[in-house]
Amino acid sequence: MCGIVAYIGPKDATPFLLEGLARLEYRGYDSAGVAVAGRTGGIKVRKVKGRVADLAAAVPARFKGSTGIGHTRWATHGVPSDANAHPHLDNAERIAVVHNGIIENADELRAKLAADGAVFRSETDTEVLGHLIAAHAAEGVELEEAVRAALGKVVGTYGIAVLDAEQPDRIVVARNGSPIVLGLGEKEMFVASDVSALVRYTRQVVHLEDGELATVRADGFRTFTEDARTTHRQPSTVDWEIDSYDTGGYEHFLLKEIHEQPGSVERTLGGRLDERFATAHLGGLNLDARELREIRRVKILGCGSAYYAGEMGAQLIEELARIPAHSEPASEFRYRNPVIEADTLYIAVSQSGETYDTLAAVQEVKRKGGRVLGVVNTVGSAIARECDGGIYLHAGPEISVASTKAFTSTVVAFALIALHFGRIHDLSPADGRRIVSALKALPDQIREVLAQSDAIAELAAEYAGSEGMMFIGRVRGYPVAREGAQKLKEISYVHAEAYPASELKHGPLALISPELPTVALVPDDELLDKNLTTLGEIKARSGRVLAVAHRRPEAKLADHCILVPKSEPELDPLLLNIPLQLLAYHAAVALGRDVDKPRNLAKSVTVE
Ligand code: F6R
Repeated sequence: MCGIVAYIGPKDATPFLLEGLARLEYRGYDSAGVAVAGRTGGIKVRKVKGRVADLAAAVPARFKGSTGIGHTRWATHGVPSDANAHPHLDNAERIAVVHNGIIENADELRAKLAADGAVFRSETDTEVLGHLIAAHAAEGVELEEAVRAALGKVVGTYGIAVLDAEQPDRIVVARNGSPIVLGLGEKEMFVASDVSALVRYTRQVVHLEDGELATVRADGFRTFTEDARTTHRQPSTVDWEIDSYDTGGYEHFLLKEIHEQPGSVERTLGGRLDERFATAHLGGLNLDARELREIRRVKILGCGSAYYAGEMGAQLIEELARIPAHSEPASEFRYRNPVIEADTLYIAVSQSGETYDTLAAVQEVKRKGGRVLGVVNTVGSAIARECDGGIYLHAGPEISVASTKAFTSTVVAFALIALHFGRIHDLSPADGRRIVSALKALPDQIREVLAQSDAIAELAAEYAGSEGMMFIGRVRGYPVAREGAQKLKEISYVHAEAYPASELKHGPLALISPELPTVALVPDDELLDKNLTTLGEIKARSGRVLAVAHRRPEAKLADHCILVPKSEPELDPLLLNIPLQLLAYHAAVALGRDVDKPRNLAKSVTVE
């Protein structure tokens, strides 16, 4: 949510800033801006409402400087506008600041600064930072001291980069709840809120910790804490290939990420299956068999698609390990004064590892003495660090706002957890082997579904014009329906509602008409007959049905059908979900939507 870039070195900063912002645009895209300082003195700023391409068009050729900062915004305080776009300046236009996060005491600080003569030109919380730093940047004070003193007065979360017209040989950055990464180049340094902006320039990076600041100069950096103690940070190497951050010939990141799933699932499974004992090895859980046997309940916490993946995870844990398990939106959990029990294991799910609601839920559990594991994609992210242990997805960078490959890998990770827990409890070796074989078969089975992309595109074009769509599934199929509806609504803006198939006749059947088609999950399992009866009820009310099934239902029960290869019943939901990703993608394309950057949304919701 919002992206930060910065550059200092012998070159002109602007090309890197604009390219870096374009790479970060998936994190927020309602306005963008850059500021540079150079040898000629003063700070130049350009900022516009709109996309990074609009900013690039507004930046004149003479807009040059060897030190610069940039920002792409997702509005929280104040509407998207030129004035509210970052960077923000103080009265004298000496200090420029870009900021991700929320300054909670912004109103109070604003009142005090205004009383002292600060003139505010935006409605943002960030603008107080520019004025506050300027107020501490008296004659002879180093920029890092002014930033440190200013941050001492701030309550809230931030990742910031600060430029000073009078000290253009440095950029000062700080992190508290919102990531900042330094990129080390040859006599030049880069900064970003996400490595995807840096990997074309350097693989050597330093991730700042919360509460840490850095002074970045062309020839290196110094890190220190908010109370001025120097910290020592060793660079690490980014191991993802550069093309992980490109569309790689696909029309959209979303389509690329959907097609990457055979590989990302292989990576999630990589080295974790133990065929001899028919179980899974999950060293990162930091729980031995004795501790695991004491767990009486599992509570899974995540937001949006991560929550739905958690619902699939809860069913897997209950079925394979026979431990009661439940998934709850982390955003609700954290506000309801939850009862934390010693024999409950809490599992936080997050692709980004940054989602503020999920992080706050983890902190609430830990504050009350609970034990939390993380199922996280982004290595070293805030949620991963906050948890007591867990497993990384290794799904690779997910750039498109809508989650697909991370969703699938999360469900695979839960299958591994459920298998591991199950084999410690009562899951038989034969059942363990059944699940291990089914997991190994998944990548090829996903390839089979992906091969139907063109046929699904034709169906999507036919259904995309509907006034809305109903998604139904029973038991294991219900989370699939929820995630399918979520994907369709977020990228195509077609209204979609998910219901347990069993509940249809208790109300929503009233909605069924030719204008509201139903996507029905119809696995070949013990509930097949019940599902076919529901299809009959829909057809009897002139509803149109698109079945996603293992076997084609009779023509009188379904207008269209997408066939999916059969796995073991516990893992079927994972495969049934893949065509729904393609359906949403192709519907969004058919409707001309901005697939990778849907309106009003942003990747990583780092605010409340
Ligand atoms: C949906 C989607 C969101 C995220 C949610 C949690 O496609 O992407 O619903 O799943 O915001 O994000 P993470 O997993 O990063 O915590």
